[in-house]
Amino acid sequence: MEAILQLIQKVAKTHELSREQIINLLESVDEQVKQELFAAALKTKQRYFGDKVYLRALIEFSNYCRRDCLYCGLRRSNSRLVRYRLTPQEIRASCQEAYDLGYRSFVLQSGEDMWYSQEVLTELIRELKNGFPGAALTLSIGERTVREYASFFAAGADRFLLRHETASPLIYGKLHPGMNQAERKACLSSLGRIGYQAGVGFMVGLPGQTFGDLADDLLYLQEISPHMAGIGPFIPHPDTPLAQEQGGSVEMTLVVLALARLLLPDCLIPATTALGSLDPVGREKALKAGANVVMPSLTPVKLKQHYALYPGKICLEDEPGACKACMQKRIRESGFEPDFGRGDSPRWHQEPGTRSIRKRVSRGQSP
Ligand code: 5AD
Repeated sequence: MEAILQLIQKVAKTHELSREQIINLLESVDEQVKQELFAAALKTKQRYFGDKVYLRALIEFSNYCRRDCLYCGLRRSNSRLVRYRLTPQEIRASCQEAYDLGYRSFVLQSGEDMWYSQEVLTELIRELKNGFPGAALTLSIGERTVREYASFFAAGADRFLLRHETASPLIYGKLHPGMNQAERKACLSSLGRIGYQAGVGFMVGLPGQTFGDLADDLLYLQEISPHMAGIGPFIPHPDTPLAQEQGGSVEMTLVVLALARLLLPDCLIPATTALGSLDPVGREKALKAGANVVMPSLTPVKLKQHYALYPGKICLEDEPGACKACMQKRIRESGFEPDFGRGDSPRWHQEPGTRSIRKRVSRGQSP
């Protein structure tokens, strides 16, 4: 036990762990280990970000998807899902609502919906960046060609979220029919090369996932040094082939999230909605274990229920204004300060007077 506690002290200082050490830690989790781990992760977050928690307005603009991922409620084979797609005009209206409430960071997320062609999206991004000065725009729309990624970036998109989902080639292959892990990694490299602030991430508790696999997920994060990393529990969806599976626990997700904070001290890590859906105070627990971002959904209330990646999603009834007040209260009561600004990665800075963002430190180096 002493050895494990020492290991936690070590990673808090050096931000390094070997695969064996991560596995060892995951195998040794008990109350005391959790407490030490969460305290060390919280301290690390505070050293890099103070008490700030960044809020992003998430707009889930389409639940059409060409993919068939076994875990996801939006998979194309799920014929029970009511499909919807916001028009560009409706997306602008949602952004306006977010902007008026003070949000300066928008995340546009959807299934892989090719109705949104390169032209349509590029035009929309240009309009949003012109219409909402000072706001950062994040895309989370899955795999596209390098040309499309470059076009969106040129139009002003600042960031891109594309979870790697799992670092295990075996599990990746089983869960993503017709997809290819090498292609996903190639997408992530392109996003970095083009100049996006890039986010990856994975699920905890996937069928067949071992501690070794989770260690590989954490080491993969370290290898590519993303600006953001989303980590959430897998929650079985009743209308998918994984309906009968067990799913991930809040506890294990928090442990893995805390380790991610210790290994990547300056990373933006959301307290995921999936955690909040499994546990009414799951997001608060995540903030106290190293997370520093919350992404409340500002999708029109009548549609929110249909963006059902997993069952039991929270805040389906909340209008944007009420949601903002609720999030502020939750963040403050957890001992943190809500921040509605762009919330850029500390590894980036904005050139004064321009909208161009440049890298200050190249990938992989510490600040
Ligand atoms: N449980 C938890 N997370 C899920 N996601 C998709 N389906 C599920 C599920 N059943 C996650 C994926 C995806 C993100 C948008 O939501 O990691 O990248």
